[in-house]
Amino acid sequence: MAEGIRARALTKRYPKSKTGPPALAGVDLEIPPGRVFGLIGRNGAGKTTFVRICATQLTPTSGELTVLGLDAVREASEVRTRIACVPQESRPLYFVTSRQLVDLYLRMRGADRTAAALRAKEVLKELELTEVADKLVSHLSGGMRRRVMVAMVLASDAEVLFLDEPTTGLDPVARRDVWSAIRRVARDNRTVVLTTHYLDEAEALSHELALLEGGRVVLEGRPADLRGRVRQPWRVTVPTEFPLEELRSYGTPSPVEGGYLVFATEPAARELAMAALQRGMRISLGPVSLEDLFLQTVGKPLTGPEEPLESEAS
Ligand SMILES: Nc1ncnc2c1ncn2[C@@H]1O[C@H](COP(=O)(O)OP(=O)(O)O)[C@@H](O)[C@H]1O
Ligand SMILES: [Mg+2]
Repeated sequence: MAEGIRARALTKRYPKSKTGPPALAGVDLEIPPGRVFGLIGRNGAGKTTFVRICATQLTPTSGELTVLGLDAVREASEVRTRIACVPQESRPLYFVTSRQLVDLYLRMRGADRTAAALRAKEVLKELELTEVADKLVSHLSGGMRRRVMVAMVLASDAEVLFLDEPTTGLDPVARRDVWSAIRRVARDNRTVVLTTHYLDEAEALSHELALLEGGRVVLEGRPADLRGRVRQPWRVTVPTEFPLEELRSYGTPSPVEGGYLVFATEPAARELAMAALQRGMRISLGPVSLEDLFLQTVGKPLTGPEEPLESEAS
């Protein structure tokens, strides 16, 4: 039976930051093999640190970590031959073409000349990069370079692929191309660890996901199960005219653009919606999104202002 990734009480404190909280403060995580696993969280949550430790680019301060059943510290060199990684801040070689870059990478990993050339061609096509295949990497836009890096790693035969924010900065069409390539890789029974701060992406691609906050896993599970686990699974938005005190009797309000967003149980959400409609207000009512789930769990949005929304309420 294949193995995925297992972290136990994993911590990381960067040598230069002796004070303040550690980057990873005890991560326990089980990443099953052969699936896409989404790691989500705000900036600074610890996603990149976790990925870099798994990819043997960083050593943990304490705790245990196995990748494919191998110890990520003691057996790092073997782990390295079986994984591939697109780091968050990745700079490819500039003086080669896209095709040469993918080809070189595959040959460095042991593919023969014919197989490497064929795979390079296929993957560049899959990511709609055929037109730039023979352009120098240094002449490509940032988004294109990112796609070439993703193509390179997806083309490899690595058993575990780490993609750290693979679609950040890509346009919507390019994002979709990356998504379908990731899905294809997962169909080959390989493990993909994807970090993202786009919740739609995490939800569309991940079989399971974990939410990191402050270097800890605060939520974990399949997207649908996570939604089922929230205390207030309905959301209602009402305009600012609705008295805040009264809103608090229905659920948990927070100010948003033009009004309030209230999380509530289903009966309370319906009552609130009725009360607002009777006063002639425009409202919206629906089940929570993954974004809301994040807000309920962490108390602040995934992106945007750092301070909690509650603070401006009174
Ligand atoms: N090389 C580094 N040296 C010191 N601190 C770092 C370094 N890299 C990241 N950190 C800190 O570790 C924490 C986690 O960062 P990171 O893993 O990059 O989070 P994420 O990828 O979720 O944005 C942050 O507080 C960040 O400032
Ligand atoms: Mg990061």
